[in-house]
Amino acid sequence: MEIITNIKQLQQKSISWIRQGKSIGFVPTMGYLHEGHEALMKAARQENDIVILSIFVNPLQFGESEDLNSYPRDEEHDRKVAEENEIDVIFFPSVDSMYPKPLSLELSVVRRADVLCGKSRPGHFDGVVTVLAKLFNMIHPTSVYFGMKDAQQIAVVDALIKDFNYPINLTTVPTVREKDGLAKSSRNVNLFDQERIGAPFIQQALQYGRQLVENGEKNQAELVKKIRQFLENKSHGNIDYIELLSYPELEPIELIDQQVILAAAVFYQKARLIDNVVFNEKGEKTLG
Ligand code: PAJ
Repeated sequence: MEIITNIKQLQQKSISWIRQGKSIGFVPTMGYLHEGHEALMKAARQENDIVILSIFVNPLQFGESEDLNSYPRDEEHDRKVAEENEIDVIFFPSVDSMYPKPLSLELSVVRRADVLCGKSRPGHFDGVVTVLAKLFNMIHPTSVYFGMKDAQQIAVVDALIKDFNYPINLTTVPTVREKDGLAKSSRNVNLFDQERIGAPFIQQALQYGRQLVENGEKNQAELVKKIRQFLENKSHGNIDYIELLSYPELEPIELIDQQVILAAAVFYQKARLIDNVVFNEKGEKTLG
């Protein structure tokens, strides 16, 4: 396994692999790797000749009051996890090399971004697609791997690839969870004990919502109201949003008559957690 910090060096490596006809699987992350990230690495390892993992805490996608400075980091651990997963290259750029000066050009997401996390994190998805466009241009991957935990991110990356004609396959990987159902996240370490106890109720509330649909509830507003009541009593955090939208278009709907995403975000003292479930009009889980 090689650790590359230099952009030119990474580009040269990728180009030489492409010339040799090798497929390149790319797993973009912000590090502090856990089993969720590992699921992406495993999928990439199975399907490609070369696997490149990037670790970069991208300042462009963090708002001013967000957790950029407290975002957890552990280089040594990440290196070990990457090694265990037979990664060929870790790309570990510095902020200065990715953004040597303020960008003259940034991408802006105009659909699928004004709902869910995009609403409470203005500019977040602009930062995500901007860094991904840079990384795609450095690596020229055959396939990229993203987790369903960030379902809106997948919808936005799907648009980036299609709208800008990147010749890249998008592979989505189901959410990996703790035993009690909490979605694995680098941010879980920032939960206080009581918050950690309440956090699995996010997924339980979403499953409760899915079951209500299975039992015949079709009204979006009624459903969201019931889930809010359930979660307010139990989560130990402040609800940022609970939303039900069509998926992957992320359009508002009144009646549940198609594939939908039911998603929630909860603020804790030092973390904000998100989770979702995607299901059809019968309440049957369809993705993730
Ligand atoms: P990060 O939060 O590190 O996540 C990297 C990838 O791991 C994302 O595709 C995310 O959906 C996936 N992931 C995280 N937790 C997961 C879980 N419990 N199960 C399955 N997959 C999981 O997402 C980002 O970084 C950044 O926005 C990035 C795409 C790297 C751009 O900066």
